[in-house]
Order: sequence, then C-alpha cells, then structure tokens
Amino acid sequence: MKHLGILLSGRGSNFEAIATAVASGKISDTRIAIVISNREDAGGITRARELGIETLVFPSKGKAREEHDSEVVAALQQHKVDLVCLAGYMRLLSPWFVKQFPHRILNIHPSLLPAFPGLEAQEQAFAYGVKIAGCTVHLVDEELDHGPIILQKAIPVLDTDDEQSLAERILEQEHIAYSEAINLVLNGEFKILGRKIIASDRLPER
Ligand code: GRF
Repeated sequence: MKHLGILLSGRGSNFEAIATAVASGKISDTRIAIVISNREDAGGITRARELGIETLVFPSKGKAREEHDSEVVAALQQHKVDLVCLAGYMRLLSPWFVKQFPHRILNIHPSLLPAFPGLEAQEQAFAYGVKIAGCTVHLVDEELDHGPIILQKAIPVLDTDDEQSLAERILEQEHIAYSEAINLVLNGEFKILGRKIIASDRLPER
C-alpha cells in the first residue's frame, strides 16, 4: 500500500480528482495518508475532512520558509508518505524540502511548460493568443514550475473561448492528467535521463 501526501492552498479540485481515482481503484493499492495546507480557509481542507481524510494546517504567514518546510516534511514523514503531490500549493519548496523526497514530489501546472510558468497561467496563455493550451505534471525541483516533465495534455483554444472557459477545459484535463502521472510514478515504469522521463519499455538499447 502506497501513501500519498497532498499539499494544497485553495479550492482543491485536483485533490478531489485524485481522491476519486483512489476510491475507484483507478489509482490502486494507494491511500491518501494526509492532506496538508498552509491555509486554514482552503476549500480543499474542508472537502478532505468531509471525505474523512486526515488533514493538517501549518499556517505559513510570517514564518521563515525553512521553519515552515520542516514542519511539513516532519508531518509527511510521520505519515510515511511515498509520494508528495502539490495540488495548488502556493509556496515554493526550499531546496532542503526537495532533497527529502528525491524524485518523489509532483506538481501540476495549468500550461504547457515551459510556456507560462507562475501565476495565472491560463490568463497568460489566453492573452498571448496561443492556439494550443494545456497542462503539465512534472517532478519538482528547486525552481518554480521547472522539473522534468512526466506528462502533458493539450487542448485547442477555440475562437469562442474566453479566459474562463479555457481555464475550465484545462482543469478537466488536469484532473485526468494527475492520476495518470501518479500511476506512472508509483509503478516506477520510467527512467530519468537528464530532463527526460522515458517509459522503461522505450529506453534505447545500449
Ligand atoms: C490548478 O490550476 C493547478 O494546475 C494549479 O493550481 C490550481 C489548483 O486548483 N497549480 P485546485 O485547487 O486543484 O482546484
């Protein structure tokens, strides 16, 4: 049985999609051991409690990054978390945090990275006038929205789209992508070659 730890700061729809995939067995032999937020008012925390999943809140406001990160890491370790999933967690992890879970921290971002990192990626994409948008699940490293890409989902930007409809259609893809990426990582069916994540059965022969 693998243990997931989810970190979130907001509404938590990606967390909920992961919880649904776990409950239905789409992500098998896995449980969500803990949901952690830096904000007590995060919708995702309320939802996790409704679902009977254990939650912890460590307010980050006014606290040094190292201090906050050490609280969060200790809680993840106590809950024997195998894989940390950032799901709308609005904090950059310290290099020390990243080192505690080598290749075991995932993030989801609502753009086709490396385009539009940072805040309001969907609005950035819409304003830029791109014709293809999407989302990315990647391994977390020390830089924002930067680590090796596990998978991406692309959608066309329609002439009829506005910022909101585009963001909604990207979000639908996020909910599919995150569970797929978690399965890939938990099953360990890949190798990391530099920035490239390659399915084990497709590795070049040496
Ligand atoms: C998502 O768009 C995710 O890609 C980004 O933050 C948002 C979180 O949404 N990192 P939710 O809280 O999962 O609904």
